[in-house]
Amino acid sequence: MKDNTQTDSLMYNIPYHTADLSKLNILVTGGAGFIGSNIVEYLMKYGTGKVRVLDNLSNGNYKNIAKYETDSRFEFIEGDIANIGTCLQACKGIDMITHQAALGSVPRSIADPARSNAANVTGFLNMLIAAKDSNIKRVVFASSSSVYGDHPALPKFEDVIGSPLSPYAVTKLTNELYAKVFGSTYGMEIIGLRYFNIFGPKQDPNNPYAAVIPIFVSKTINKEVVFIDGDGEQSRDFTFIENAVQANVKALLTTNTAAVNQIYNIAVGEKFSVNYLYNKIQEILKAEHKPTYREARKGDVKNSLADISKARTLLDYDPKFKFEEGLPITVDYFAKMY
Ligand SMILES: NC(=O)c1ccc[n+]([C@@H]2O[C@H](COP(=O)([O-])OP(=O)(O)OC[C@H]3O[C@@H](n4cnc5c(N)ncnc54)[C@H](O)[C@@H]3O)[C@@H](O)[C@H]2O)c1
Repeated sequence: MKDNTQTDSLMYNIPYHTADLSKLNILVTGGAGFIGSNIVEYLMKYGTGKVRVLDNLSNGNYKNIAKYETDSRFEFIEGDIANIGTCLQACKGIDMITHQAALGSVPRSIADPARSNAANVTGFLNMLIAAKDSNIKRVVFASSSSVYGDHPALPKFEDVIGSPLSPYAVTKLTNELYAKVFGSTYGMEIIGLRYFNIFGPKQDPNNPYAAVIPIFVSKTINKEVVFIDGDGEQSRDFTFIENAVQANVKALLTTNTAAVNQIYNIAVGEKFSVNYLYNKIQEILKAEHKPTYREARKGDVKNSLADISKARTLLDYDPKFKFEEGLPITVDYFAKMY
């Protein structure tokens, strides 16, 4: 496998901010991971004063950010958010935080709920405490569409949620509850982004809990067996990474007082089935690799589709990449890896 840490030249060509970033010091937790390293890429590209990454590399890849190590604006701390001392150290001299560090994946949380809780709940609480004690007001954090749990309604509106279906969903819901209480109790400005199936360059295809798009692409290219869970008719609001980065930028920099201490759906607002996704990938790769169907996964929801009008209205979020525009960029990125 080749090292392929450059994102496509089609990405991050539009700035999503008008403010001067050069005086801002921003901490990106989980910045060696998929979403975090894309946020780092945007912030470095547009001249942010300091970009500090805190990551324990449990799931991320240092290669995603290695190209910045000689840039004096960039700093990397290898450390665990489950350690409050590390969080306090990472917050020194920082103006705002985008918190992406967590152990993702529903199946991983089912296999080891304690480990997910340590990173996602204790780690999140530590970051909020460290931000409060360091007088950092603005914290943007990664929540998840899994918070909608067993609520059947489509599309999903932020204030109508069901019961969580997995330990992972419990951790993300707990984050949202802590965020609300820290906002009201300590006067902090905390914004939660409920991501819906983010995909794109730098997503890891190689761990046992990898997401569906990198798995489909890498296994098709390598002619390995591709499993589709259930009948493949489950659908998702697949969201290209640049849209998620845009949401982080808007949330970090918004001056709209009505936009803070809120939770937002971050998606495109269109759903596609897993079978459709699989066939599109075959088409882009000019392949005819047949999938193998197996039992549906525990804790998975059948359909997922976001209403994104709240983020559009309050955050001025406007996803520029549709699923079908982001997919070829992503497939091309993975194709160059092999
Ligand atoms: N990718 C998606 O579709 C999606 C959907 C919903 C929510 N999210 C959330 O978005 C965030 C980023 O996800 P991602 O897809 O980039 O995952 P990722 O695994 O690529 O990135 C997470 C990063 O956090 C780091 N990390 C994990 N535990 C840590 C700890 N205890 N201390 C320090 N660093 C730690 C990992 O090493 C990794 O680099 C996560 O909070 C995830 O739950 C992602």
